[in-house]
Amino acid sequence: MLQVVKGRMLQAMHKGLSRQTHAQANVRMLPTYICSTPDGTEKGDLLVVELCQSHVRTMWVTLLGDGNQSPQVMYKIFSMPGDIMQGKGEALFDFIAQCVRQFLAGISSPQHHLPLGFVFPFSCRHTRLDKAELISWSKGFSCSDVEGKDIVQLLQSAINKQELYHVDVVALMNDTVGTMMTCSMAGKPCEVALVVGTGTNSCFMAMAQQVEMAEETSGQMCVSTEWGCFGDDGTLSDILTPYDQCVDEESSNPGEKRFEKLVSSLYLGEIVRHVLTALAAEKALFIGSNVAVLRTKDVLKIQQVLEIIDNEEGMAEARRALEALGLRPSERDCCRVQQICQAVVSRAATLCAAGLAAILSHMCQSQELKQLVVNVGVDSELYRGHTRFGEILQSVTGLLAPECMATLLPSIDGTGWGAAMVTAVALRLAAQRHEVDQVLAPLRLSRADLQRVQALMRQEMELGLGWESNANASVRMLPTYVCGTPNGTERGEFLVLDLGGTNFRVLLVRLAEDGIHMASKIYVIPTTITQGSGEALFDHIIECIMDFQLKHNLTEQVLPLGFTFSFPCQQLGLDKAVLLSWTKGFSASGCVGQDVVQLLQEAAQRKQHLGLKVVAVVNDTVGTMMSCGYEDPKCEIGLIVGTGTNACYMEEMQNVGAVEGEQGRMCINMEWGAFGDNGCLDDIFTDFDRLVDEKTINAGKQRFEKLISGMYLGEIVRHILLALVEKRLLFRGKPCPKLHIKGIFQTKFLSAIETDGLALRQVRAILQDLELQASLEDSVLVREVCQTASLRAAQLCAAGLAAVVEKMRKNRGLAQLAVTVGVDGTLYKMHPCFSQHLQQMLRDLAPNCTVTFLQSEDGSGKGAALVAAVACRGAEPWGQPLLPPQ
Ligand code: BG6
Ligand code: GLC
Repeated sequence: MLQVVKGRMLQAMHKGLSRQTHAQANVRMLPTYICSTPDGTEKGDLLVVELCQSHVRTMWVTLLGDGNQSPQVMYKIFSMPGDIMQGKGEALFDFIAQCVRQFLAGISSPQHHLPLGFVFPFSCRHTRLDKAELISWSKGFSCSDVEGKDIVQLLQSAINKQELYHVDVVALMNDTVGTMMTCSMAGKPCEVALVVGTGTNSCFMAMAQQVEMAEETSGQMCVSTEWGCFGDDGTLSDILTPYDQCVDEESSNPGEKRFEKLVSSLYLGEIVRHVLTALAAEKALFIGSNVAVLRTKDVLKIQQVLEIIDNEEGMAEARRALEALGLRPSERDCCRVQQICQAVVSRAATLCAAGLAAILSHMCQSQELKQLVVNVGVDSELYRGHTRFGEILQSVTGLLAPECMATLLPSIDGTGWGAAMVTAVALRLAAQRHEVDQVLAPLRLSRADLQRVQALMRQEMELGLGWESNANASVRMLPTYVCGTPNGTERGEFLVLDLGGTNFRVLLVRLAEDGIHMASKIYVIPTTITQGSGEALFDHIIECIMDFQLKHNLTEQVLPLGFTFSFPCQQLGLDKAVLLSWTKGFSASGCVGQDVVQLLQEAAQRKQHLGLKVVAVVNDTVGTMMSCGYEDPKCEIGLIVGTGTNACYMEEMQNVGAVEGEQGRMCINMEWGAFGDNGCLDDIFTDFDRLVDEKTINAGKQRFEKLISGMYLGEIVRHILLALVEKRLLFRGKPCPKLHIKGIFQTKFLSAIETDGLALRQVRAILQDLELQASLEDSVLVREVCQTASLRAAQLCAAGLAAVVEKMRKNRGLAQLAVTVGVDGTLYKMHPCFSQHLQQMLRDLAPNCTVTFLQSEDGSGKGAALVAAVACRGAEPWGQPLLPPQ
């Protein structure tokens, strides 16, 4: 049955959390906007004001940042004139503000800024921690003009009237969350609280995204369950006894707070009384006594019930209590009364356990954990000093939620002290947020920044295209001698090499009537070779080709070869490409300034491989454009966002200064990765970018690429994380030796971290691998860092692309350009939101261009084969190179 109750509680909780069903929910799951528990670093002076039934309590708390071990507390209680509770709202708040003034005058407090936390134990609709409308008064309060108003504002104006301008109301809270906060110790956060006093309620740290009534979407938020009303819709009717029905009927709010009436101390004595009455009527108890006294409400106090269940003194206490009522109990009567009290208190404890188990299982599930280890603060007169309630609560919770390990912690002075903690945490978070924002600000680019980048890219493109200005341009705008996109008539069988991305591949591509057929194999090139001698690199490539040919029975044939070589090359024709510089971590010696076709052929000779006929060298951007162009003739741009980043597009021949001829178009390999190498982007670079750049083998080069591409994004994030650790904003400032290792934070982590939805499970797992124990808040921050870095990358990429499409539109004199971009690269393909951000920003920056993105599915191998096919048709060359400028 308890399992069933737990299940119903879970259902009721879900109903309260969901926006759709919240209005009808009994368990209201109110958001509190408290998004963190104390971490012990909280520091400073705080003021707490608590509105109680008949008094106002003011408290001054000094936190020393020592794990909240020894807070200094002073307080004062002001009793409230009786008429205030039903008078004007203004009078109530003026009274509270006067209490604050008197209190502060009494302790001659310094006049520095003083944050105030207000404990207001009525049901409120929060929209921020410091903004909450009173839904309705209760507990005898009915001041006019307060319901529906923002309580924080009312208190703040009253305080201002007292000229206490330095007092700032920063948090308003219900009494339940205080318990949770008090039980939080440094390093051991308490994330659930249970209050079982005259009323009952609970709260817990929920995943913010599930609290649909609040706008927060990341991290956690404390939810006040308001579970006292559980069962008001009849869900508990099958467990209610006739005694519970009597208690409810005689209460001031029949039909309401059904769960509360089963567990809270206000009602347990009453339940016992009704059981005794029924048994006496059946003559099973108190034979010979006048039992009329049992008809009087509240004659049995909870304190008596608790003492009766005490094993040693219990029987004697039962006798004392019953005799005090004028009854003449027998030994057997006393024994039975003790059993009844035990049954009633045990039931209360087991029902609380069912509720608690529901909360714990919910937490465990929503954090996608196998096991939840959690501290539960308990504030209850049933618990304090009486072990039985606690024992049952603990053991039954364990049975009902075996996947959770809950440690129950008793709370002392929950509300007041807890309120100070809430306030302190709010201040800590605000201060941390400010610092985090400062760290991340340079990475957050405005629209104006991006427009400037776009304009600069456009300028650099013009410089790069100009025959004379090319030498000063950071964007080289290299002619490719590819003058058209495929028309579908390309035929033949080709060998293709694909070098320069994540993988080195050898492919066999057959262009046939019925489509394109491919076979390919990935070969590993160790860093010792990519950074060794050029001879070793090209020898290795030939060995891979030979292996591939052997495996595919191609040793007897001389197939034309297309070479996707994804590095900047000055092409002197389709089959002649002089390497201008290595990028992306390659540095094989003796290659820069050489024709890579020649280098390949020399290696072939060294390896006595005689059947190599290189017909075309293409950049990966060009290969990608061509292979996507086969699907969509509108594809006139190629984009790579992978290990590196680059773009190519179809430019008007008349604009291409380096090649003779005015007719038609030629594909230009922009080599935009080097954009900014001449200093034009210096004000965009952050300290993190400079640190990343310094540690590369081509410092000062490929600066745009280093802001965007997969080879560097993880490094940028790593440096930001290190800065946050140093400022003690992350991992509580604990040293993280592994995070100092270059390359340890891979770009694929960004994709995983940003994909992970609710639970941030991935983040924690990844960080755990780096030997970092991340709290949930740490995980949220790490995710924010990743998001910031990847968003900037996508937006910068959009700015570059905007310059390209706008230039194409102007070139063609069009009001509106419709164009397709063929895209490839791991970052673009694997990252959950890169493409979306890129496209969104591009629409914004180039509103007159309709740009479609077509993902290349089979790498640029197909494209290289297509270019090779055209070359074999003898259609080449399309233009004559001018001599490259010196
Ligand atoms: C591959 C292409 O699909 O993508 C390569 O075949 C290209 O030519 C690569 O260089 C780019 O992406 P990455 O992520 O591998 O660098
Ligand atoms: C680097 C190379 C470039 C290539 C790009 C994407 O920027 O210099 O040629 O297209 O990476 O792989």
